[in-house]
Amino acid sequence: MIFLTNEPRKLKLPSKSMEGNVAWKSPSNIALIKYWGKFGEQLPMNPSLSFTLKKSYTKTSIEYAYSTKKSKSLKLYLGRKRITNFEEKLMGVINKRLLQYLPWLDYTQLKIHTENTFPHSAGIASSASAMSAFALCLLSIEEELFHSKFQKNEFYRNASFIARLCSGSACRSIYGGYNLWGSLKEIVDSSDAYAVPVNNLIDPFYNSIHDAILIVSAREKDVSSSQGHSLMKNHPFAAGRHLQVNDNLQMMLKDMQNKDTPDFFRIIENEALSLHGLMMSSNPGYLLIKPGSLDIIEKIYNFREKENIALGFTMDAGPNIHLLYFDKDKKEVRNFIRNELLQFCENGQWIDDKLGPGAQKVKINE
Ligand code: DP6
Repeated sequence: MIFLTNEPRKLKLPSKSMEGNVAWKSPSNIALIKYWGKFGEQLPMNPSLSFTLKKSYTKTSIEYAYSTKKSKSLKLYLGRKRITNFEEKLMGVINKRLLQYLPWLDYTQLKIHTENTFPHSAGIASSASAMSAFALCLLSIEEELFHSKFQKNEFYRNASFIARLCSGSACRSIYGGYNLWGSLKEIVDSSDAYAVPVNNLIDPFYNSIHDAILIVSAREKDVSSSQGHSLMKNHPFAAGRHLQVNDNLQMMLKDMQNKDTPDFFRIIENEALSLHGLMMSSNPGYLLIKPGSLDIIEKIYNFREKENIALGFTMDAGPNIHLLYFDKDKKEVRNFIRNELLQFCENGQWIDDKLGPGAQKVKINE
């Protein structure tokens, strides 16, 4: 059974109380083609393309207690610390968006333990990894409660659907490698409601991609992604952006059918700079790039010109720079990072990450 947008599920709930626990680890992802702007029930204004990371992930375990009487509650721990402000937020998402698809949540107490491999203060958005891990745990709980199994592809698709309802970019953290979210007429299975893997459309060369996450500032950002997305609704450049992003995606997917193509980094950088351009030109406008981000970009331009190595940068909605490059250039690029870029990172912090295999079910104490 695949969840459908805007169709609440009718389920006959179990007639016996039950307890258990489940755990998943799920990665963060970095978008090459950016999701920016949403409408309706967490639907994207444009399609996006990303790859899942290997080292930056969240591990979430949930102890659940289902009862035949309404008993919905949740406790949320990050490491050992209970985070009550986020409990409220998550309960809001459950009430507003998840109950219609997972009606058993009304009868279930959840104790959630979550841990990130990357430091909380690293300025890395954890919502994609945290929310995808949460969604996967919920689907596993459903399987246990109903003593039934989704087919493997249904399980992942539904997890991506539920993850999207929690945080848009989280739907792209389920499958390993490259994920596409958003409906594209050329790609049969693609949908605004969940992400699909697109590794079969891409030359295997792109699996050797690395992401050096250069932490320019570890401070939490002042403007949330949700606020940013909502500013796209009346943005004067919205129509132009949608033409641009669709062209960029088409070009990117075509390019990535072949190894090592010259336009790959040009498109990625165009997406990153456009994202920040849209933020600056929204009303009210805001600026997330810091002087250190610009210093790093300048160094990347110079290094690329001088060394003729294929590399480039992207950025999320924050000041940190993701330097993307391929395995074959690892040695030269690492030297470049150490010698020229770490001076612009807060306390010299960076995360040496690369493309990873996607989410994995784990044992609760693993
Ligand atoms: C700039 O997924 O964090 O990283 O759906 O409101 O939770 P919500 O937003 P979120 O937006 C991330 C946007 C981005 C670009 C991208 O990942 O595609």
